[in-house]
Amino acid sequence: MTSAFSGGAEARPYVFAESGEGERDRLELLARMLDPMHRRALSLAGMRPGLRCLELGSGTGTIATWMADQVGARGSVLATDINLSFLKDLRHPNLTVRELDVLTGDIPRRSFDVITCRALLHHLSQWEPVVERLAGALKPDGVLVLIEPDAGAAVLGDPEHQRFWSAWCHWGRMEGIDFRLGRKLPRAVQRAGLDLHEVTMEVPFYGGGSSWDELYRSTVRAARPRPAAWTGRDPSAAFENLDRADGQLTCSFGWMAVCGRAAPATEAVPAQ
Ligand SMILES: C[S@@+](CC[C@H](N)C(=O)[O-])C[C@H]1O[C@@H](n2cnc3c(N)ncnc32)[C@H](O)[C@@H]1O
Repeated sequence: MTSAFSGGAEARPYVFAESGEGERDRLELLARMLDPMHRRALSLAGMRPGLRCLELGSGTGTIATWMADQVGARGSVLATDINLSFLKDLRHPNLTVRELDVLTGDIPRRSFDVITCRALLHHLSQWEPVVERLAGALKPDGVLVLIEPDAGAAVLGDPEHQRFWSAWCHWGRMEGIDFRLGRKLPRAVQRAGLDLHEVTMEVPFYGGGSSWDELYRSTVRAARPRPAAWTGRDPSAAFENLDRADGQLTCSFGWMAVCGRAAPATEAVPAQ
């Protein structure tokens, strides 16, 4: 039986679920590149001692452990993912790790002060109902902090790189992944009944051999077992063939951070 608050959306397998050992390295690199903006977005949203926090799709758990430090002994953090292999060894007195598929798992209503996820929603073909459920899981005045990519920023790169990322987005669509989701987040957060609090986009420009280049290379490599949708070519080979002349910077994804806030509790008006 599905509870009033469980998903119901049809789950689709996570595209990098079988990426094996390399997945930890890729997620660690992702965390190194995105944790600073994620921590800033959470800090702006009002992270402080005593709060009850939930993270979905926690990956290697770097943000969950950071939140556990911020909320201290009076607060708590629930770190969740469909894959607990990179979370199971986390040891923090106020941090709990739990397996949860955000599409189908139960998330209690009006229970958390802070809910966050990063680089998760664009993998879900049914992501908007998830945003609504997460909004419903906030306590009054609670905040939802979402970070997702938007490949629209590739227009700032050179044409050869633009063509590559455009083909990458096409591949994503065939796999049910929306690499242009970032721009859709603010409206989705408003539609879920939250007040928009902060919206920012970070657009890294990077050169060959940089950490961003390595992150995108390992992501494209991880897609290798499923090249069929890639118009007949191997995406990894296409990525390697991109021109990376010395000192040349390019651009692919912008990373959108959106914070929505739930309405405060309504105070009873004292009788006159
Ligand atoms: C691209 S990784 C991002 C990890 C981490 N949030 C980060 O940004 O470093 C996506 C994560 O979402 C998890 N995931 C994929 N589908 C999921 C689902 N339906 N419910 C919960 N987690 C899911 C994956 O196992 C993976 O850890």
